[in-house]
Amino acid sequence: MIKFSSVLGFIISFVLNVGCNSPSGQESEQNDSLSVQSANDDGLAKTPPMGWNSWNVFGKDINEQVIRETADAMVSTGLRDAGFTFLVIDDLWEGQRDSATGLLSEDKTKFPSGIKSLADYVHSKGLKFGIYSDAGTKTCGGMPGSYGFEEKDAKLFADWGVDYLKYDYCYCPDYTSANNDYRMAIARYKAMGEALKKTGRPIIFSICEWGPRSPWLWGKEVGGHLWRTSYDVADIWDKPKNEHSPIGILTSIDVIANLARFAGPGGWNDPDMLVVGLKNSGYIKGGGCTDTEYSTQMSMWSMFSAPLMIGCDVRNMSENTKKILLNKDIIAIDQDLLGKQAIRMFRNNGMEAWKKPLSGDRFAIALFNRNENASTVSVGAIDLEIEDSSQYNARELYEPETAEKSFHRLTTKLSAHETKVFILSKKS
Ligand code: GLA
Repeated sequence: MIKFSSVLGFIISFVLNVGCNSPSGQESEQNDSLSVQSANDDGLAKTPPMGWNSWNVFGKDINEQVIRETADAMVSTGLRDAGFTFLVIDDLWEGQRDSATGLLSEDKTKFPSGIKSLADYVHSKGLKFGIYSDAGTKTCGGMPGSYGFEEKDAKLFADWGVDYLKYDYCYCPDYTSANNDYRMAIARYKAMGEALKKTGRPIIFSICEWGPRSPWLWGKEVGGHLWRTSYDVADIWDKPKNEHSPIGILTSIDVIANLARFAGPGGWNDPDMLVVGLKNSGYIKGGGCTDTEYSTQMSMWSMFSAPLMIGCDVRNMSENTKKILLNKDIIAIDQDLLGKQAIRMFRNNGMEAWKKPLSGDRFAIALFNRNENASTVSVGAIDLEIEDSSQYNARELYEPETAEKSFHRLTTKLSAHETKVFILSKKS
């Protein structure tokens, strides 16, 4: 196990290594043994957390009725039973902090029965309850942050029955820039990570620093189970990276692509929440995406072993949205116990192939079209670096009627922004 203090020594050289993906053509598998983090072996995030978060659709417009209805819908739609077990209230649930006692309270207008009673309700539905705070003096929405009150807030959250804390980085020094103040970020996240541990309650710790200070290098060391790799994903297909402003699905994919070596059981790269099903109706705007693009987000997030946090209004989902979110085969890829993030193996004229090793001698292969037009992609065993390829069968997901076939090549036509996923499994 590498000690916390030695992480800093590694950081500079690893920061230089990350982000140097080859700009075109084929890429070979990266060295999975490289890691500067010790395993977070508390067993809380053996697979990536799945659930729902209030921000994308409701933003500041949350209240206890909406959250109770959401909990009900997570059960009645089958989302809970498909694995989406965390219900997380994002920012703007907070009231004020008592200046004498330092005790934080909920906004009593939005949550008149109190957060504790809401958490009890969520638990009674067989769900887990998550909440949000911030490592700075204020949250991103301008409410009281936890800086200086880490132990008090952690204890309050534990007393309320919180199972998951999303911890943001607004109102910290230099938070709007990519200035390399990673030591500050490490210290602030460590303070909350330790405070959570001290409560004795198992609480998943979700680091939301957005990526500028490379949280994949130190996230586990400070007690984190997941860490955001990029800025907020808006409801839009393509919007390039811009400091501290929302990005599109495509940019988020390209950022996380370089970070595969840092994800695994216990600690996950988090490319932000799903925008699936929002259709530009939510609090975060962007213009909306097509169902093909939403389906690509779900498939690629699963290929990345990413946390799957739904962001749409689950009380009113279209049949297409349900189909995308409740696809058991795709969810199983995300939740595979090996916990390997997919690697991009092939890139040619906007057509890509990604490979994710799965348990049981299997691979998930995603073929992805980033072009604006339909196009055909064809990859073979050499492109995918599959040894003994004649020993494998291939089956396309989303097409249950398609029989398993002996694997030679995967050749398929993809519409604009479409992804198709195949499973290669060893012949018996
Ligand atoms: C930041 C986070 C978002 C959301 C908002 C809440 O922007 O990245 O995911 O939590 O704050 O204010």
